Amino acid sequence: MRVVLFGPNGQVGWELRRALAPLGEVVALDRQTREPATGDLEQPEAVAAAIRALRPAVVVNAAAYTAVDKAESEPARAACINTTAVAAMAHACADVGALLVHYSTDYVFDGEGTTARREDAPIAPLSVYGRTKADGEAAIRASGCDHLILRTSWVYAARGHNFARTMLRLARERAALSVVSDQVGAPTGAELIADATVHAIRSVVATVDRAALSGTYHLAARGATTWFDYAAHVIEAARARGEPLTLAPGVLNAIATAEYPTPARRPLNSRLDVTRFEATFGLTLPDWRLGVDRVLQEWWSR
Ligand SMILES: NC(=O)c1ccc[n+]([C@@H]2O[C@H](COP(=O)([O-])OP(=O)(O)OC[C@H]3O[C@@H](n4cnc5c(N)ncnc54)[C@H](OP(=O)(O)O)[C@@H]3O)[C@@H](O)[C@H]2O)c1
Repeated sequence: MRVVLFGPNGQVGWELRRALAPLGEVVALDRQTREPATGDLEQPEAVAAAIRALRPAVVVNAAAYTAVDKAESEPARAACINTTAVAAMAHACADVGALLVHYSTDYVFDGEGTTARREDAPIAPLSVYGRTKADGEAAIRASGCDHLILRTSWVYAARGHNFARTMLRLARERAALSVVSDQVGAPTGAELIADATVHAIRSVVATVDRAALSGTYHLAARGATTWFDYAAHVIEAARARGEPLTLAPGVLNAIATAEYPTPARRPLNSRLDVTRFEATFGLTLPDWRLGVDRVLQEWWSR
C-alpha cells in the first residue's frame, strides 16, 4: 500500500513516519521536497497534482500553519495552507479514490461551558487559525472523498519545542513563573496520535463499507488539566528527580487568560469527547499523564 505523508517533520508528522512504515511504501513530502513531487502547501495545485501522479491508497496530512498568534497577522497564508491546500488535496483524493487523513483542532470551538464536546457540537472558532482549520474540515466534507478528520488538542512530542520543555527550561532559569489556569484541555502526545491514526487507517482499509467509517473524530488523551496544573506536574516531576531548579517550591503562580493577552483568542474549554473514536476503532485512549511522564523519562534518559 502506498501512503503519501505531508508535513513529515512536524511533531505528529515525525511520529507518523515511524508508525506508518509497516503499512507499506511511505512517500514523505515536505515543503522542500521537489522529487518525486512537492509537499509545499503554499502551492495547492502542485500538491493536488502530486496526489494524482502518485495515486496513493492513503494520504495523511500532518502539515499545517500552526503558529496560532502569527496567523492573526498572516490570515491569507494560514488560509492557503490550512484551507485551500487541504481542499485541493481532498479533491485529488476523491479523484484517485484515496483515503484522506487530516488533523484538526479543539480551536474550531469557542470553548464555552465545562463539558467535553462531541464531534457534532457547533463550531465557532475564536481565531484566524481556528477558522482556517474549520474551513479546511468543511472543504474535505464537501469534496466527497473518504476521510478521517481527527481533531486533537495540546500536542506535544519528544522532539521539537513544546510547552512541557519550555516549563522545564523556565524552572531552571526563573525564580518565579506565572501560568494560565483557566484553560482546560488534554495534553496529547504525537506518538499516541500517530499510533491511533495507523490503527484507524487499518480499520478503514479493511472494511467493505468505507463510507460508514468516514467522518470526523476527536482523538486526544483522556482526562483534562489546565496549563497551570500541567506545568506543575512537569516541574514537580523534575523536582522529585533532583533536577537543579531555580524556581522555589510553591512559587508557581496561577493567572487568568485575561492577564496574559495574546494576539489570538483561545478557547477556555478545550475538552474533547473521545468516545466516538474509541468505540469505532476499539481503542482505549490513555490518561494524558501517561504520555507526558513517558516523554519526561525519555528526555532525562538522554
Ligand atoms: N500543536 C498543537 O498543539 C495542535 C493542537 C491541535 C491540533 N493540531 C493539529 O495537528 C496537526 C499536526 O500539528 P503539529 O503539532 O505536528 O504541528 P507542527 O509541529 O507545527 O508541524 C507542522 C508541520 O507543517 C509544516 N508546514 C507548515 N507550512 C507548510 C507548508 N507551506 N508546506 C508544507 N508543510 C508546511 C511544517 O513544516 P516545517 O517543518 O518546514 O516548518 C511542520 O513540519 C496540525 O493539523 C495541527 O493543526 C495541533
